[in-house]
Amino acid sequence: MLRSHCILFGLLFIHSDISQGYKMQINLATITWAHAVNDKAYLNSSLNSGIDMLEADIVIGRTADNKENNIPIMGHPPNNVSDLSLSQFVSIVDEFNKRNAAKKGIKLDFKCIEAFESAIRNEEFSAILSKANYPVWLNADILEGPLAHPQSNPVDATLFIKGGKLFPRSVLSLGWTTGFDATKKVGYTESNVREMLRVLETNEVRQPVTFAVRAGLVAESKNEMNKLLSNNTHTLTVWSAINDEGFDVDKLNDVLDGIGIRRIYVDVPDELKSQLNLLNSTQIDA
Ligand SMILES: *[C@@H]1O[C@H](CO)[C@@H](O)[C@H](O)[C@H]1NC(C)=O
Ligand SMILES: *[C@@H]1O[C@H](CO)[C@@H](O)[C@H](O)[C@H]1NC(C)=O
Ligand SMILES: *[C@@H]1O[C@H](CO)[C@@H](O)[C@H](O)[C@H]1NC(C)=O
Ligand SMILES: *[C@@H]1O[C@H](CO)[C@@H](O)[C@H](O)[C@H]1NC(C)=O
Repeated sequence: MLRSHCILFGLLFIHSDISQGYKMQINLATITWAHAVNDKAYLNSSLNSGIDMLEADIVIGRTADNKENNIPIMGHPPNNVSDLSLSQFVSIVDEFNKRNAAKKGIKLDFKCIEAFESAIRNEEFSAILSKANYPVWLNADILEGPLAHPQSNPVDATLFIKGGKLFPRSVLSLGWTTGFDATKKVGYTESNVREMLRVLETNEVRQPVTFAVRAGLVAESKNEMNKLLSNNTHTLTVWSAINDEGFDVDKLNDVLDGIGIRRIYVDVPDELKSQLNLLNSTQIDA
């Protein structure tokens, strides 16, 4: 099966599946993700795979060779040592994308504002991001959301968005700190949504936005998700943790089917992915 990728407005991939008679199909849910690409070996294998988007986490820490300390490195808290710094990560991906037609997109998940502020002060990082002709997503949990762990502090929303504006073609991927407990049957609240929309308005966000939302909570938030997406240029990125179990997948399908394949990215474990109607949607773009 032949698949070609190109970029529309730096945001969407068009998947044109030649085996299906040259029809253009825009199903964002079919875009594939590598998760926590936080070390050299996994970055290399992800680049050499058919995966579209590389998701990676950034914290402040030191490089394993001890050459640099107190810089943005690839890692998930509580880790603070990595064989890959953020500047190395973006330059390796950028070099790869210069040499390959099937370009990889990147989603950089900043775990604290210090890592982000330090990143955007770095000239190499800024130069690469400014010139990137592939999807670049800047992600942070900027608000406190449902069942959030008391110690998981949101990233400063104003500073994050202000910094994101330096890269107007990048996608701002914005989420809430959350927890999960299927027995509680809670989802995103109206006030979570209002708060997010107010942040966008107050900070005069004009660049592409996707909301990063947790699958098990989305299942309980049909009205809230519709309200969240009231600006029809915004999209949803549904993610799920491997241990998030026991929620109602039919309800999740109901919410997602109502929003549709043009507006939902799906970055969830394969087992959940295989149960989502979106993935089997045959909706074809005219
Ligand atoms: C990178 O991955 C390729 C293909 O999987 C492999 O052949 C190569 O040895 C790897 N290189 C490094 C430096 O790990
Ligand atoms: C990394 O974490 C350890 C253990 O929490 C801490 O002692 C150390 O100071 C941290 N190092 C850096 C560079 O942040
Ligand atoms: C909708 O979002 C886009 C992209 O962020 C922004 O430019 C536009 O101003 C927003 N529209 C409204 C009505 O807020
Ligand atoms: C989607 O299609 C795959 C492969 O045909 C199948 O295994 C899966 O169960 C289907 N999922 C849904 C939700 O229909």
